[in-house]
Amino acid sequence: MSQNPIPVILDCDPGHDDVMAILLAAASERLNLAAITTVSGNGPIDKVTQNALKFCTLAGLTNIPIAQGATHPLIGQSHAATEIHGESALDGVALPESTIALSKFSAVQLMAQIITESPVPVTIIATGPLTNVAQLLRTHPELHSRIRSISIMGGGTERGNWRPLAEFNIWFDPEAADIVFTSGLDIYLCGLNITHQVLITPEIFTRLENIDSHLSRTIVPLMRFFAHAYDTTFGMPQPPLHDPIAVLMVSHPELFTFAHVPVAIEKDGTHTRGATVIDLHRVTDAPNNAYVAIGVDVPAFWDLMIEAVATISE
Ligand code: RIB
Ligand code: CA
Repeated sequence: MSQNPIPVILDCDPGHDDVMAILLAAASERLNLAAITTVSGNGPIDKVTQNALKFCTLAGLTNIPIAQGATHPLIGQSHAATEIHGESALDGVALPESTIALSKFSAVQLMAQIITESPVPVTIIATGPLTNVAQLLRTHPELHSRIRSISIMGGGTERGNWRPLAEFNIWFDPEAADIVFTSGLDIYLCGLNITHQVLITPEIFTRLENIDSHLSRTIVPLMRFFAHAYDTTFGMPQPPLHDPIAVLMVSHPELFTFAHVPVAIEKDGTHTRGATVIDLHRVTDAPNNAYVAIGVDVPAFWDLMIEAVATISE
């Protein structure tokens, strides 16, 4: 563990790529994964929460508090990405029953508690819809100064995935995203323009298989399911591993190129609701409210991701 690991809370909707984000955060010597909180997104809250509990049990990550969060977006109904993550929201392998007791606190209560008690400001990493994060910022304005930054997987500078111009996490709860992006806090964003460079290729599958551990023998079929779903849905047989990149922005910012630019969340467009409107060339006079990733060292990421799976397996 490094001298002063950064305390982080991972808010997620496991989710195949979310569980890889859990592993990268838990294995990083530069981070202290203080809590995992769940949010409705890839699946209903009960399923994504069970997935977090079961996967952390499998990985031996039994000392990290896990708290359940929002059941639906701030406005409207919940949606599930069953096309990508399956009925369980983590299809592909049978996970063991959880031995971890779910926190008696809600996600927002646990986030607030950890941020209040931390001797240094805490970083929030969000790899699902931003409902929990928005509710934290709205109900605890007194904690804003104790939040170091918010690292988000979502949106993108190009096209969308769940809608032609909207990425799933932002599209799921645009009102929540707007609250976060107008909060005035330091926001780091890795969108599809970045994550679609981070593909699970046959070479990556071989590197995962070569670890040959109980954990890697679970990760491989999960990623095979994810790859088949991406191929079937998007014609992408090598799926993008989105969520760990939001972890990497915190642990290894030196592996990125960022543009500090205005980002607006479209809430009302008939065809564009949920879009991240990123003013890369600053043609508006809007404030530069986010550090948007426009470059990443992909091989360095994969070395760290493979090392994380191997390390957690020990
Ligand atoms: O659009 C990709 C994002 O949506 C990822 O976080 C994935 O897990 C899903 O939540
Ligand atoms: Ca996710």
